[in-house]
Amino acid sequence: MSSVRPAAVVVLAAGEGTRMKSKTPKVLHEISGRSLVGHVVAASRELDPLHLVVVVGHASEQVTAHLTAADAQVRTAYQAEQKGTGNAVRVALDELGGAVEGTVIVVCGDTPLLSGETLAALAATHTADGNAVTVLSAEVPDSTGYGRIVRDATGAVTEIVEHKDADDEQRAIREINSGVFAFDGQLLSDALGKVRTDNSQGEEYLTDVLSILREAGHRVGASVADDHREILGINNRVQLAEARRLLNQRLLERAMTAGVTVVDPASTLIDVTVTYERDALVHPGTQLLGTTHLAQDTEVGPNSRLTDTVVHAGARVDNTVAEGAEVGPGALVGPYAYLRKGTKLGPKAKAGTYVEMKNATIGEGTKVPHLSYVGDATIGDHTNIGAASVFVNYDGVAKHHTTIGSHCRTGSDNMFVAPVTVGDGVYTAAGSVITKDVPSGSLAVARGQQRNIEGWVARKRPGSAAAQAAQAAVEESGSES
Ligand code: UD1
Ligand code: CA
Repeated sequence: MSSVRPAAVVVLAAGEGTRMKSKTPKVLHEISGRSLVGHVVAASRELDPLHLVVVVGHASEQVTAHLTAADAQVRTAYQAEQKGTGNAVRVALDELGGAVEGTVIVVCGDTPLLSGETLAALAATHTADGNAVTVLSAEVPDSTGYGRIVRDATGAVTEIVEHKDADDEQRAIREINSGVFAFDGQLLSDALGKVRTDNSQGEEYLTDVLSILREAGHRVGASVADDHREILGINNRVQLAEARRLLNQRLLERAMTAGVTVVDPASTLIDVTVTYERDALVHPGTQLLGTTHLAQDTEVGPNSRLTDTVVHAGARVDNTVAEGAEVGPGALVGPYAYLRKGTKLGPKAKAGTYVEMKNATIGEGTKVPHLSYVGDATIGDHTNIGAASVFVNYDGVAKHHTTIGSHCRTGSDNMFVAPVTVGDGVYTAAGSVITKDVPSGSLAVARGQQRNIEGWVARKRPGSAAAQAAQAAVEESGSES
């Protein structure tokens, strides 16, 4: 997408993020299905840089393992001590063998809303204006905590002053440093050598590079972001929630623009990795997570959580939790179903109310309508499983498989004790415990015979309400005949 391919993108992610008050490093906190730093790396990748380096420090092993799991190409540089953002960029350039020729983009690992488009626009402005450095700035309602962009009477940017080092006049400035920069690689590494630590935090500030380059006679500029919300930096969990809300809204708007009806965006969560087709309909209280896909004319929710689940065209999923499942075209799920990993419902199949399935393949038109557990099973086409059936798959040591054929009618309250195979066109009696294979076309009955002991109530419970009711029934039928 970018016309100006940067030589390198440097992502700063070495800080602990103490204000999160968390055992998890700040940049590994998640919103919309990705870590904070994961979002930043994904946006950076859109620039197609020659090099991408993430500076790690606090919990570096954990952060590095996380990064390489998501993006095997990623390179990290280790900053032993968090001596400031300027020091962090120096560590990154050392990893790349010193100075880099061409444009170097620096982004912070805690700005997850930053888009690839905005980064590309910054790189383009930087190149077009022939700047030594271009900072991405923004006008914000509350600039507390941010570095302020200081301009002279002509409007030219002169320096960036950190909140802690700013005087009252500077603190009143609402244009702030987003923490995102485009630099000329050579000039950046020269200037980093001149950054001092005589500031309130005793750190090497990357922001000082701007005034250093300006004083040396180079062109410096600021590119003002269209939407200040995009550069929101996450320092605490209140900002984390705000970023999640904003990103979720952006992702849902993208889905709606593509033809998905979202009945209540405020109560719907969607991950960045979710895909969809036109005329999918999402009811309130629904979470669409991971690699979930909604095909055309699907209807999901209310109150459903789908993780890594594919819902094929025309299927209906109501009040359901599904993880790693596949719902066939026109299939019906719920209300109140739980589809676990490896569940595959065929076309027009049904997993009804209070039904749990795991590692189960259910054929076309086959129905499991009520109160059942189907685990480790294969069921053919157009079979009906009676209410309250359990696929007994676990003997306390190992899991076993049950196979049931097509066009079967199994009775209510059946136990299929695996491993067991039921043929095609089989009927089973209600209340059966099926422990032996059933040949095709058979009726299987596996339960005790019923025995009626007449007069038992009158003898054993004389004078009781039950005995009186029985007596009355006997007299009634006697008078009728
Ligand atoms: C920084 C900027 C500030 C800007 C703000 C935007 C500086 C001096 N200040 O302030 O002007 O308005 O971001 O959000 O640059 N990091 C390292 N190593 C370090 C220090 C920081 O990798 O030694 C990383 C952190 O992990 C973080 C990023 O750099 O991802 C920014 O650091 P942070 O401490 O959050 O800086 P701010 O005080 O927010
Ligand atoms: Ca910050």
